Amino acid sequence: MEERKGFGSNFGFLMAAVGSAVGLGNIWGFPNKMGANGGFTFLIIYLILAACCGIIVMIGELALGRKTGKGAVGAYKALSKKFKWLGWLGILSAFLILFFYCALGGYCIKYVVLNVGNLFNAGFGSNGLSGADVFGNFMSNQMESVIYGLIFVLLTMLIVMGGVGGGIEKVCSVGMPALFIILLICIIRACTLPGAVNGLKYMFVPGWAVENGVIPKAPNFFSVLSTAGGQMFFSLSLGMGAMITYGSYLSKKENLEKNALLIVIMDTIVALMAGLCVIPGRFALDPEGALGGPALLFITMQNVFDKMPLGSVFGILFYLLVVFAAISSSISLLEVIVAHFCDKARDAGKGDKRKAYSLIAAVAVGLGCVLVCLDCLGGAGIAPMDLLGVEKSGWSDCWLDFFDCVSEGIMMPLGALLMCLCIGWEVGPKVVDDEVTLEGNTFKSKGFFNICVKFITPIAMLLVLAGQLDSFFGFGWFG
Ligand code: TRP
Repeated sequence: MEERKGFGSNFGFLMAAVGSAVGLGNIWGFPNKMGANGGFTFLIIYLILAACCGIIVMIGELALGRKTGKGAVGAYKALSKKFKWLGWLGILSAFLILFFYCALGGYCIKYVVLNVGNLFNAGFGSNGLSGADVFGNFMSNQMESVIYGLIFVLLTMLIVMGGVGGGIEKVCSVGMPALFIILLICIIRACTLPGAVNGLKYMFVPGWAVENGVIPKAPNFFSVLSTAGGQMFFSLSLGMGAMITYGSYLSKKENLEKNALLIVIMDTIVALMAGLCVIPGRFALDPEGALGGPALLFITMQNVFDKMPLGSVFGILFYLLVVFAAISSSISLLEVIVAHFCDKARDAGKGDKRKAYSLIAAVAVGLGCVLVCLDCLGGAGIAPMDLLGVEKSGWSDCWLDFFDCVSEGIMMPLGALLMCLCIGWEVGPKVVDDEVTLEGNTFKSKGFFNICVKFITPIAMLLVLAGQLDSFFGFGWFG
């Protein structure tokens, strides 16, 4: 039988896993949520959740993957009868996330091109229009967003076709350090702008956002908890088998516990750094601009670059950084899908057929991405609310929000909850212990892990799930 090729080195694995974790979620989610939810207070809650849930689920997923040597579907099938379908929930989530992630990745490529246009005063630059107008024009030009979205899908597919060691590891080993350096340059630029200090206050000083009228009132504890929890899961790429898949390619001699800890720490550091880059820019040069979501990335930031000396150079650098961050995440999502089918073909003795499966998966993703692009943040087309016959609300007015809410809000916390129940109660945490302690490695947090995976993490997950459902559907459970 053909050998299953994995990562060449632990560094390569770490860069790929951090690459998966660091993505659009870090850049537009974390800084804004931190500012609006009480600055340092939010950070501390986030860190506690990361320690009691993030690291736990990370160790669990990596261990399940490495133990079984299979993608998400194969791993759960090998582990338990009751949970054998759970891998499929992961594959479904991967598709839904990819649909909107690739559309957004395409927008990022468009903005690199736009800033190149600005640098050379070419016709494809902003042509003196404001950030909002440029974005509005782009959104109403559906053909253009479809083309950029498909370019992004194509790039993702080409990397995944190259395999884990050959494609994913190579791209991330270069791309992640490069991203880090560009981020440093952008932070220095942003924090030396006059007025940048208000951005730092917004992010770090508890209560500053409310006192200064940036948000009307302080959110209550439950909504902070569920915001932090949802953000953490999405940002760490947990709850849908991405880390199971990457873990399955990791060598048995590497230390899982240390790797899990490093991934969580690095992802959080990059999220904070992304905040130091975008939020001060917003407060200095576009004080009315959006603070999060696509509008932050594509309107506020473009306004900032338009007003900055040498702005187009920084614009090119910044959007390139975002493209790197997005691609290193989208390849992990596509790999979740491709790994499963390759495993199956290999088990059937047909070789792994990686290229064929990457192509088929990319075509399917491309179709969903086209749907999101045509809809262009709620423009034309049939919105989910028309199809489902429901009232217009945050999640139902466009496909982007719909796919986002269903995957991030429901499927991922649910996936993580069920994974904990599977490890803690169905197969028992010893499975993880056995895997972590292979080849003389120690499992320092074993006692902590066992308590968390059985009790603390599932309870926290239930709260996060309830909080997310509440905020999407406006049940008003948490006031
Ligand atoms: N973590 C990425 C971000 O912060 C998104 C992402 C990539 C993801 N792969 C994932 C989310 C797998 C969940 C599961 O933008």
